[in-house]
Amino acid sequence: MASLPRTVLISGCSSGLGLELAVQLARDPRKRYQVVATMRDLRKRETLEAAAGEALGKTLTVAQLDVCDDDSVARCLSHIEGGDVDVLVNNAGTGLVGPLEGLSIATMQSVFDTNFFGAVRLVKAVLPGMKRRRKGHIVVVSSVMGLQGVTFNDVYAASKFALEGFFESLAIQLLQFNISISLVEPGPVATDFEGKLLAQASVAEFPGTDPETLGYFRDLYLPASCQLFRSMGQSPRDVAKAIVKVIGATRPPLRRQTNTRYVPLMALRDLDPSGRLYVRIAHRLLFRWPRTLHFSLRCLACGCLPNRVRPR
Ligand SMILES: NC(=O)c1ccc[n+]([C@@H]2O[C@H](COP(=O)([O-])OP(=O)(O)OC[C@H]3O[C@@H](n4cnc5c(N)ncnc54)[C@H](OP(=O)(O)O)[C@@H]3O)[C@@H](O)[C@H]2O)c1
Repeated sequence: MASLPRTVLISGCSSGLGLELAVQLARDPRKRYQVVATMRDLRKRETLEAAAGEALGKTLTVAQLDVCDDDSVARCLSHIEGGDVDVLVNNAGTGLVGPLEGLSIATMQSVFDTNFFGAVRLVKAVLPGMKRRRKGHIVVVSSVMGLQGVTFNDVYAASKFALEGFFESLAIQLLQFNISISLVEPGPVATDFEGKLLAQASVAEFPGTDPETLGYFRDLYLPASCQLFRSMGQSPRDVAKAIVKVIGATRPPLRRQTNTRYVPLMALRDLDPSGRLYVRIAHRLLFRWPRTLHFSLRCLACGCLPNRVRPR
């Protein structure tokens, strides 16, 4: 007998990864999922609804959910039949780049409110039901920046590191309740995310930042970051496919990176657990050998390298 479809709740489906994932799950040929695709501002629903096509109203419904608002979360769950979420995907997120001295504490806190506490708020809301039913899967869209720091992304990386520590800790307890946790760690993804971020960063003034640091940020970091996205950026479709596999797995992994092109950078961490090697090489590439960095990124962009999503 075919099993009942699993209810999947996804945050941040107005664009990018969330939107793509919602559509792929809703169009699952085996109809294994009933997707609740959420967004904080329902005026942005059109793109999702158009992409969902015939799945809309059948295997996909759209609902309002602001991960920073307790009432919004409670309201959203109250509309789900039985209130039971089988798979929660914490996808909503926001970025922040720039020299630390020029960023206010309030701005930094708002990144943590969305990326970290937003995910925690949703987990607290669905966990009692999952524990009662002794089943569930919590998927978290983390980042390679949850494993490795990147210059001028200090606060964003910290918010993703926080997720990694929180969910790895929780995974141990939840195994006792047959609930799985999966942290998906994409590298750069070609969504609105980086475009919005870099556009803001290129006009922001970062008051209080010394001219030398500002120069490094504008003249070295910003162009390198744009090139990194062009060279290594995965499509949201490829990353969503990797997440669909994680959700469909019989034994979901705790961690899954999606971009094989990022592997050499990540390997530096394992090669030297003291962390010196990665910090030195990242420093040299940006500040001392920008031409080598530029050349390496061009090589990566040439297209002769293997598929960006791990074939698992
Ligand atoms: N793009 C990358 O390079 C990359 C790489 C690694 C990991 N990630 C992670 O992937 C996830 C999705 O990002 P994306 O690349 O798809 O970017 P995106 O297109 O900008 O999507 C971000 C989504 O999060 C939503 N969001 C922001 N604050 C929210 C809140 N308080 N409540 C509910 N939704 C909120 C946004 O809604 P609005 O439209 O209302 O703002 C949007 O739907 C994020 O967690 C991001 O950190 C992205």
